[in-house]
Amino acid sequence: MARVFSGIKPTGEMQLGNFCGAIQHWVAGQPAPGTPAADAGDAVFCVVDLHAMTVPYDPADLRRLTRELATLLLASGLDEQRSLLFIQSHVGGIHSECTWLLNNTATIGELRRMTQFKDKSQGQESVSVGLFNYPVLMASDILLYDTEEVPVGDDQRQHVELTRDIAMRFNARFGETFMIPRATYPPSGARIMDLQNPTKKMSKSGGDSPGCVFVLDDPKRIAKKIKSAVTDSDTDIRYDTEAKPGISNLLDLYAAATKSTLGEAASHFDGQRYGDLKVAVADAVVAMLEPVQARYAELSADPAEVDRILAHGAQRAAERATPVLDRMRDAVGLLRPAIR
Ligand code: TYM
Repeated sequence: MARVFSGIKPTGEMQLGNFCGAIQHWVAGQPAPGTPAADAGDAVFCVVDLHAMTVPYDPADLRRLTRELATLLLASGLDEQRSLLFIQSHVGGIHSECTWLLNNTATIGELRRMTQFKDKSQGQESVSVGLFNYPVLMASDILLYDTEEVPVGDDQRQHVELTRDIAMRFNARFGETFMIPRATYPPSGARIMDLQNPTKKMSKSGGDSPGCVFVLDDPKRIAKKIKSAVTDSDTDIRYDTEAKPGISNLLDLYAAATKSTLGEAASHFDGQRYGDLKVAVADAVVAMLEPVQARYAELSADPAEVDRILAHGAQRAAERATPVLDRMRDAVGLLRPAIR
């Protein structure tokens, strides 16, 4: 099995795009049950709280959202026996030092070209150094675990490309130190769009809005949001993101929720009406999320168990990342301390 790493920011509640574009595939990509303990832990997942601090935020919200998100990832099916889940700041010393070392390989020019940086800094009076440096911290997350595959949604493409560039440049300058990772995308759901504005991606940072379904929304609310999705004045159900962004988004959601292909989804609805499509998508999404919501209710009643899993995850993550950081320190010419 390939070594997998991925992360999610606690900047808001988990939304359907996160679930279809990433979390579902993290869960499915865990080693098979019964894999010997020595091989488990090859799938590493992280709640990236240090990344969430790069835009204005409320400290009490960050703490609450970090815990809720970790609980929801476990409720979604991340399994302590088959993967490793930790909070980024619990291994923060290692991730921060790695970022500092990589800062000397990344360039201002390439960070300036990041579309996420451009989007988030546009129109802001003051932009933090943290926001600018965000992709280097993300590269550290990935490279510290000798990652081969990074399961992400389409919007992370540029960040993973940059991680590859930084790793290759570092290896060329200081000798083979890093594995070169690659991004992997789900066959459907890699870019779920806002239900009210299907030319814009669904995003948790927009707060509660009718165009964004949260994983913990109650089923009636989920159905209402999906049934109110913007479509078009035509009647044809087919996948065409340019001409029919709203319908294509609903087909994408249906395929992701029923684990079918886009082709199967489109032919399933051939000749049906928009209303039928919306009802079927709402039912499929509710059916996908109901067991997650039930498990979340159980787990959130037992915060000590979540804490235990996270503490164990942080310890194992530090054990895995430390030798990689040592490799980096040696490569860049830092003197090893006489006593460790
Ligand atoms: P974040 O927190 O914005 O999103 C987490 C994951 O959800 C995916 N995603 C979507 N997929 C489909 N449709 C959407 N509308 C949608 N919205 C979000 C994202 O692509 C992502 O896979 N920079 C990362 C966090 C990060 C990270 C990492 C990821 C930090 N370090 C290391 C991978 C590896 C982010 O902001 O994700």
